[in-house]
Amino acid sequence: MPRSVERSACAKIILCGEHAVVYGRPAIAFPLSHLRARARIEPSDRSFRVIAPDIDRIYTAEGDTGHSLIRLAAAALDVARAATRQQAGLPLAALRAELTLTSDIPSAAHLGSSAAVSVAVARAVAACAGYELTPAEASALAFEAEKLHHGTPSGIDNTVVAWEQPVWFARAWQGDEAGAPEIEPIAIDRSDAVRLPDLVIADTGLSTPTRIAVSDVRRGWQSDRAAYERLFDQIAEVVSASRQALIAGDWPRLGRLMDDNHALLSELGVSCAELDALCEAARKAGALGAKLSGGGRGGNMIALARDAQHAALLREHLLAAGAKRVM
Ligand code: MEV
Repeated sequence: MPRSVERSACAKIILCGEHAVVYGRPAIAFPLSHLRARARIEPSDRSFRVIAPDIDRIYTAEGDTGHSLIRLAAAALDVARAATRQQAGLPLAALRAELTLTSDIPSAAHLGSSAAVSVAVARAVAACAGYELTPAEASALAFEAEKLHHGTPSGIDNTVVAWEQPVWFARAWQGDEAGAPEIEPIAIDRSDAVRLPDLVIADTGLSTPTRIAVSDVRRGWQSDRAAYERLFDQIAEVVSASRQALIAGDWPRLGRLMDDNHALLSELGVSCAELDALCEAARKAGALGAKLSGGGRGGNMIALARDAQHAALLREHLLAAGAKRVM
């Protein structure tokens, strides 16, 4: 009889390096632990199914074998069975259980919603079979699901979500192809001395799937590789300098680097009028820096405040400039 379990996974925000990270350059991301996706499994008299009340959908192990969530659940069950030396080969449908999926993370807002859902589902299914996935296992399972959603993900989202710690991330890049994913995070500062900056996150309210911006950048790169490679290299320099600024706690420098990163992302064509307007409003209100975060063309931007009090002021200015939600 399957056990009742609940497992969750956090949202994420990318500080710098998005898009270029798909092409083997580094990026830095933070977990957002207060926003979570949750997967709860209860025993049932039916064969395995996933209920997603937020979007009014049900996926069954018998009827939706090609769906990413069902494939992910089957793969997580295999990992758990192998790790606990249980009988392999039993189909997911033989699991008499019902998984209910809920999430606080807005979808298509570039906060890692799909990675968080995948990690939560994989953890819950494995736990139901008596096994706790390691972060590396959860990340690898979610990466396969991310490929179904985004086509060519770098792996940064599943990594920061599965490890739930600030990460410096770079994946192998061989020639002009993504190599085998080296998707373990590197802690930004092993001495744990990093104080996290006061970031304000504002939502444009435009939901744009990551895959659209990622595939537009891919088309641009295919048509003018030299120009795009130059932009990716410039972004990589900004990311390396941001890491130093972060470790040194040099917020004015980090802010300037965020502005530079936003300008480079605009050149890549992934900003939009709404993101530019929110970045400008934040700078006018004294933000040390501002940039889009994640896929772009909508979703969220981040602004660096001087301190917690200034963050509250930035929030007011961003709402007045049209932000739909500010964290
Ligand atoms: C998405 O959070 C970040 C992108 O760089 C895509 C990826 O890395 O897979 C836009």
